[in-house]
Amino acid sequence: MTDYVNVKRVLSDAQKQRLANHTPSVVEQDGKLITTVEEINISGKGKKNNKLVSVKPKDEEAAVPFTQAEELFKDLVQVNAMLTNACNLSCSYCYEQHNKDFGRFTKESLKQVYDWLNARNNGQKKVFQFFGGEPLIHKPLIKEFMETYDEELRENYENYRGTYVSMCTNGLLLNDEFTEFYFGKPYTHMMISLDTFNSTIDHREITPTQMNKLRTVIKKAIDTVDDPMRVVVRATLSEETSRDMGNFIDELYGLGVRNMVVHPLVLDSKHGYISWKDENWQSMCSKIFNALEKYDDLFIKFSEGVGQKEDSNCLVGSHMVAIDASGDFSGCYFFTNQKSNGADIAVLGNVIQDKVYVDRYKTFQGAYKEMFETEEQCRTCNYQNACYQCPAGNLDTGTRLFRPDDMCQKIVKLYVDFQTDVSKKIFMRHVKKRAARLKELGPQIMSAELTFFREAFAGNVMGQDMFDHYVNTRNELQTPEEIMHEWLGVKDLRELYNELAKMYGYPEITFHPDSDIVKCYYIQCISTIIFRHEQDQINKTSLSTLLE
Ligand SMILES: C[S@@+](CC[C@H](N)C(=O)[O-])C[C@H]1O[C@@H](n2cnc3c(N)ncnc32)[C@H](O)[C@@H]1O
Ligand code: SF4
Ligand code: SF4
Repeated sequence: MTDYVNVKRVLSDAQKQRLANHTPSVVEQDGKLITTVEEINISGKGKKNNKLVSVKPKDEEAAVPFTQAEELFKDLVQVNAMLTNACNLSCSYCYEQHNKDFGRFTKESLKQVYDWLNARNNGQKKVFQFFGGEPLIHKPLIKEFMETYDEELRENYENYRGTYVSMCTNGLLLNDEFTEFYFGKPYTHMMISLDTFNSTIDHREITPTQMNKLRTVIKKAIDTVDDPMRVVVRATLSEETSRDMGNFIDELYGLGVRNMVVHPLVLDSKHGYISWKDENWQSMCSKIFNALEKYDDLFIKFSEGVGQKEDSNCLVGSHMVAIDASGDFSGCYFFTNQKSNGADIAVLGNVIQDKVYVDRYKTFQGAYKEMFETEEQCRTCNYQNACYQCPAGNLDTGTRLFRPDDMCQKIVKLYVDFQTDVSKKIFMRHVKKRAARLKELGPQIMSAELTFFREAFAGNVMGQDMFDHYVNTRNELQTPEEIMHEWLGVKDLRELYNELAKMYGYPEITFHPDSDIVKCYYIQCISTIIFRHEQDQINKTSLSTLLE
């Protein structure tokens, strides 16, 4: 039995209240930010009395230090730092409140959170993301943080083991000075949320004038960065906006955008659960495929969280958390943001106080597991390992954090097909580029790689004969997998990868290299291992060109 309420839902009083209160709380006038909400300090100097309001769990709820709960954070790769809940927009689908903050971050407390993220596990390429509300309300704080800790942020990024700094913003408060400052740092990315350029179908109520401003700021950002992949446009796609997607993507591409993230809107603060009409969903997918076909260098991905499952779902032990200035964190920014409106129960711990509310994790993990055990629809579902759950949206449209509904399998199936296809296209595009590069730079690269392999295997797997063979035939280059296969003297790419993996402590991979994509996957893994571990021994310049 499902308990969600679909598009025809009747709003409760609390929901009516939430929607009535959902108005912009910050406006920009003559270049200055003016707030209509007293508690929200936007001076940039911080409140005189910076009161940090954190959730107090019940006495009987266990709270342990992070060192005793590391397992829950083994997949953590991203922190969203909620600089404020205030916002200059009031997008109709957004669950956030914009009227109350729970304290103000300082550069020191931001650094504490940054360090906390880095310390959680040994994962690489983590994301420390400014979030909100609208994070650009606090430009001065962002600048102060980046200026003060620049050296460390840079070092961490350049060593390619650490964390990059990002922000998720509606972009309307960007100006040239900030853009130049922000992208002047090598470690920054920016995600600009924009669903369409057509104001008449927009759920975000962005005016035509504001749309023009966004065209300008996106262009400026692209013109400022050294690599357009550092600017991401994130589109939350509704049935309405997706109809115009073809034009939207064309225009973005014209502005220089090469990186997009999409999130189909299925849980909406105003309308509740949204069942997409089949034809709309299919049309949205084909518009994305068409764009990928049309633009060889355009990247489109699904947003974070979509397709995540198992023990890495929101609230269960997520790969991403949202933290506010009090140190409270939750699996989702909608919960951290709404903690004074009944969502306090979803706060999972406090970073500043070094506490993890482990009982809550257990409860949420239990509720999640229960769904798979008790729901007939889930028990027989083929998509158990890919289904996407949005606990905040689920609660808004029913009473349970995790539940199936009449659309979920359909949506997940489309998502999986779509995602597989998109990633395959993107991956194959990489591979084609790499193959072309190999053809072009082959002799130089292979010579460097083979020198390494000769040393690494010490004549065991390949020897002088192989190397001579390569030197003699370098002008007759074949496809990259043939080169690896034939010239490195291993049975197949899997064997080669696993030899290397054993040497350097990587997990074994057992897929059969029986299709192009799997072969190429192996080549990618092999090159990555070489790149990471043997930089001094091989020709770094030519390999890094290859790996671009
Ligand atoms: C909550 S906003 C906060 C940061 C900033 N104000 C912005 O708009 O980018 C972050 C992202 O959440 C998305 N979002 C808001 N409500 C959503 C919903 N109901 N479902 C999916 N995404 C949503 C927005 O489109 C935006 O891309
Ligand atoms: S989605 Fe972002 S810009 Fe829109 S109301 Fe929510 S916080 Fe503000
Ligand atoms: S897709 Fe739906 S039915 Fe399948 S596991 Fe997820 S919630 Fe259950």
